Amino acid sequence: MRILLTGGAGYIGSHTAAVLAQRGHEIMILDNFANAERDVPARLKQLTGQDMTVIEADIRDTETVTAALKAHPVEAVIHFAALKAVGESEVDPLLYYDMNIIGTIRLLQAMQAAGVNRIVFSSSATVYGQPDSTPILEDAPTRVENIYGRTKLVMEDLIRDLARTGKLKGAANLRYFNPVGAHPSALIGETPRGVPNNLMPYVTQVATGERPHLNVFGNDYPTRDGTGERDYIHVMDLAEAHALAVEHIHANDVSVTVNLGTGNGTTVLELVKAFETATGREIPVNITPRRPGDVASYYANPALAAQLFGWQAALNVEDMCRDAWRWQAKRAGINDV
Ligand SMILES: NC(=O)c1ccc[n+]([C@@H]2O[C@H](COP(=O)([O-])OP(=O)(O)OC[C@H]3O[C@@H](n4cnc5c(N)ncnc54)[C@H](O)[C@@H]3O)[C@@H](O)[C@H]2O)c1
Repeated sequence: MRILLTGGAGYIGSHTAAVLAQRGHEIMILDNFANAERDVPARLKQLTGQDMTVIEADIRDTETVTAALKAHPVEAVIHFAALKAVGESEVDPLLYYDMNIIGTIRLLQAMQAAGVNRIVFSSSATVYGQPDSTPILEDAPTRVENIYGRTKLVMEDLIRDLARTGKLKGAANLRYFNPVGAHPSALIGETPRGVPNNLMPYVTQVATGERPHLNVFGNDYPTRDGTGERDYIHVMDLAEAHALAVEHIHANDVSVTVNLGTGNGTTVLELVKAFETATGREIPVNITPRRPGDVASYYANPALAAQLFGWQAALNVEDMCRDAWRWQAKRAGINDV
């Protein structure tokens, strides 16, 4: 297939581009490079041999996106481009409504104008909010608790509506749990700006010495060791799931909403231990009070992804730590990895 990846130069998009290219698909990347490095397409070429078409544009620019889709016809779009910082979304809700919701509407308009009617969408497990129980299944109630989560749920609804009314032939709303890690080549990975919001990039920056210690928010949760439990998923497994999802909706013309997680919970202290084992680096931790809004335990029931796509995560937490570290160490100029 020829596939357009919006946000294809970003963290999850670039790994998905690599996996899709290796499966023989032809990739076009559309990105405004607001949160991506300019040389990602060159690194993808080094990795895959494919010289991917790159359109530098904003998804809200319907005219440019329509023209790109007409000039380079595709069978499907995988839509990663969005803003994703929960804290920032609460500070500037309109920015998030504009970029994420209006951006998605504009993209869908461009797709309609160019006759493209299949989409895979990056949603998030954040749409479940505080779950009644774990593991979380797709029919669990959605309870958005921040503006970012609301934009994801609205975007899912827009896509489901267009599928229900026959405007889209195939759609997959993919609800990611906690993506971490990097390509094993260390050619692509995650490059958070400023202080990382997520645990793994923070841990890797403690390991390089950029940050003195890891703050652990609460050790009195009802979990094995009192720290919060999450479902970390290797970005390569996540990328593989996108390839299978786009192939599934292309072959079957269906609309699906699917969790992507490993189904295993890992606590903060278990992740730190796995990191220390995988890398030989020590991570000093500092226990601080709970953060308001954090939940004790959050992990997926990924059975539907197995049933529909024949997918399940293959890589474990130590693989995630090793690959995240290899990437971060290379960037920090540490060579003994
Ligand atoms: N990383 C996570 O933990 C996580 C978890 C759940 C869901 N998601 C979702 O997955 C998607 C990808 O996340 P990521 O971690 O790869 O983020 P990222 O920031 O690395 O990638 C997003 C890419 O989109 C581009 N972009 C942003 N706004 C754009 C616009 N208006 N027009 C064109 N390009 C634009 C950025 O430059 C970047 O390359 C996002 O939709 C995010 O909400 C991410």
